[in-house]
Amino acid sequence: MDYVELNNGVKMPNVGIGTFMLQPDDAENSVREALKMGYRLIDTANAYVNERAVGRGIKSSGVAREEIFVSTKLWPTEYENPNAIDETLERLGLDYIDLLFLHQPGGNYKAGYEQLEKAYKEGKIKAIGVSNFEDEFIEDILNNFEVTPQVEQVECHPYFEQEKLRKITEPKNIKIMCWYPLGHGDKSLMEESIITELASKYNKSSAQVILKWHTQMGFIVIPGSKNVDHIKDNFDLFDFELTEEEMNKICSLNKNHRYYYPSMEQLKEFAKFQPEYETK
Ligand SMILES: NC(=O)c1ccc[n+]([C@@H]2O[C@H](COP(=O)([O-])OP(=O)(O)OC[C@H]3O[C@@H](n4cnc5c(N)ncnc54)[C@H](OP(=O)(O)O)[C@@H]3O)[C@@H](O)[C@H]2O)c1
Repeated sequence: MDYVELNNGVKMPNVGIGTFMLQPDDAENSVREALKMGYRLIDTANAYVNERAVGRGIKSSGVAREEIFVSTKLWPTEYENPNAIDETLERLGLDYIDLLFLHQPGGNYKAGYEQLEKAYKEGKIKAIGVSNFEDEFIEDILNNFEVTPQVEQVECHPYFEQEKLRKITEPKNIKIMCWYPLGHGDKSLMEESIITELASKYNKSSAQVILKWHTQMGFIVIPGSKNVDHIKDNFDLFDFELTEEEMNKICSLNKNHRYYYPSMEQLKEFAKFQPEYETK
């Protein structure tokens, strides 16, 4: 397993498991099985409505809390709730969160960021993240708050390499954590000839080649899967290395293509969604 060092000195695994769209039972199983296989990074969110299940998966794995890096995200309807972070901790069954994001730049995100800074200073969270804060939104955070975020979670894969955002994040050593790292399972990405050629050269799957490209780019990845074989494959990345030429060939697949890009209006509407949290 490999780690990256965040700009506050915290060490974070660079490969983890995502839990977006996983029903509670699937999330619990995926988290437990992933931890048993050696994963140490789990990503969830208030809005995935599976934080309790993730907490159960962590407990039943038998892996010590301090070995696990948990990231979750405050949803915009929580930005002005002064108890939001304590309630998130309660749902997860944890007494600290390794990395807490603001999920979207909707709602009163400045109030949300103030909460993150307060919790960071109190030790309830070990690192601060922003997700989907691009352009003026990331600039706004950098220009108006004391603590520089440690991680930015955004859509990122070989078809969309976040070149513009990285010009802002790299000088501040803000790590990029990629959602849709496998293009949400898009076959056309998985079947690109350079990807399949490298997969056969290294005796790996297309998914493994793409994930390896991410980690060699310095990104953190959280591929999502309900399939135990895929979960196993997605963590079996540490016994091969792409050459510089191979990395460049994969980089040349970039076509600034996003799979999901809501308009500002859609984002504002979306931010009003109120998650109905699990009660047990
Ligand atoms: N911050 C945000 O706004 C945001 C938005 C979206 C997602 N996320 C985070 O990012 C994580 C990853 O995104 P994602 O799960 O939607 O997309 P993804 O990881 O790019 O792709 C997941 C898809 O790829 C398939 N897959 C996974 N491993 C595979 C393998 N080894 N071989 C073949 N197919 C494979 C999965 O199917 P199987 O189940 O069959 O394996 C699933 O259909 C999420 O779980 C979530 O934690 C964050």
